[in-house]
Amino acid sequence: MAIQLQDIGKAVLETEYAVRGRIVARAQELERQGREIIYCNIGNPQALEQRPLTYLRQVLALCQYPDLIDRGADLFPPDVRETARRVLEGTRYGLGAYSDSTGVRFVREAVAAFIRERDGIEADADAIYLTDGASKGVQAALRILISGPHDGIMIPIPQYPLYSATITLYEGKQVGYYLDEGHAWKLSLSMLEESLQEARRYGVRVKAICVLNPGNPTGSVLDRDNIRMLIQFAKSHDLAILADEVYQENIYLKGDRFVSFAKVMVESGEAGVSLFSFHSCSKGYLGECGQRGGYMEVRNIPPDVVAQITKLQSVSLCANLTGQVATYCMVRPPRPGEPSYARFVEERDRILGELRARAALLAEGLNRVPGIQCNVVAGAMYAFPRIALPAGRSDEQYCLDLLEQTGICVVPGSGFGQIPGTAHFRTTILPPTRQIEAVVERLAAFHASYR
Ligand SMILES: Cc1ncc(COP(=O)(O)O)c(C=O)c1O
Repeated sequence: MAIQLQDIGKAVLETEYAVRGRIVARAQELERQGREIIYCNIGNPQALEQRPLTYLRQVLALCQYPDLIDRGADLFPPDVRETARRVLEGTRYGLGAYSDSTGVRFVREAVAAFIRERDGIEADADAIYLTDGASKGVQAALRILISGPHDGIMIPIPQYPLYSATITLYEGKQVGYYLDEGHAWKLSLSMLEESLQEARRYGVRVKAICVLNPGNPTGSVLDRDNIRMLIQFAKSHDLAILADEVYQENIYLKGDRFVSFAKVMVESGEAGVSLFSFHSCSKGYLGECGQRGGYMEVRNIPPDVVAQITKLQSVSLCANLTGQVATYCMVRPPRPGEPSYARFVEERDRILGELRARAALLAEGLNRVPGIQCNVVAGAMYAFPRIALPAGRSDEQYCLDLLEQTGICVVPGSGFGQIPGTAHFRTTILPPTRQIEAVVERLAAFHASYR
């Protein structure tokens, strides 16, 4: 049979992923024609001049080519060579062999140690799944939770379209809850209750709630009270929680700090709420999107369900081994006293310092443009400003016109969801500082003419 479009299932056809949609395709076309494009559409740091951490790349290099462990003494510091040796021992057969479906145990133990140290709570290596980026973990959790077309998953609006796309693909029901733009995009209990009750009125069996902290595209950071409120909400309505914490290192405001859902849940003695938490090598100060490293940690999930998750993971055999090693380096970076420590700290702090400066520069710059209103970028890698549009114009058209006229590629707010009648776009804070200044300048001129 020669497959035709009509042979493809409805769920696949309806799945949308705005971050790489029509506007990006047009940007690539313009670039092929010789236009300079500033890609602000996707959180892909190393595509925007961020350099990889030396330590991580050195460990990966040695794991990929172990002959260099002994021969490369003048190129690789001793702690790197020792780490590579231990990681390879942990994998048993090196990076060219499948690992256990849940991932290399040595790496999962390091993830558990990382959680213990970060949160001061117990963590179990057997509750950790190493995944190809956080995306695969999120998809695994949603696959387990969606058992039929009446099953609903609450997702924030605006949200990162991995969630809406996967729910559509697995033929569940997306139940959006609005984030409160007027209050720094924080969670609002009344908005949560409202969306849940509305879904139930339509016969949706709501099974879980997804939370992105820090938020994409909103850049908001939740505090402990917000997290506690959400856990209570989940408990009172019998929902599981998916906590997407891939931006946990990307916190920019003095006084803010990352608090994990696992920590708040354990500290409040909550045992009745199932929790899936996700972390990734793609964000933070690593920005190793292409290595596809990440993990999912599960809590309060009975062994027979855990067995089903493991079974699903085993269908694709295992996460890629390079990503597993990158995850090891993320959770077990050099420590004080180790030869690589000073360089690691210097590189880490420079990257985070630049991101912090760009977050402020971008939000302040956008707020100077009449007709654009942007919340503080407290975390993650994005700004999601609200834009005033002439009657009858969509944000999609706005972003296309912006691209054509200025070469700036951003994603329309409609790709993430927004309150009807409002318009936004999402831009990353990732371009180098000199380009951020150009982005703000060109946007200001474009927006003035657009209105
Ligand atoms: C909130 C959020 N979760 C998950 C991901 C997926 O990241 P990865 O699969 O590269 O780990 C992203 C990527 O941008 C994201 O923004």
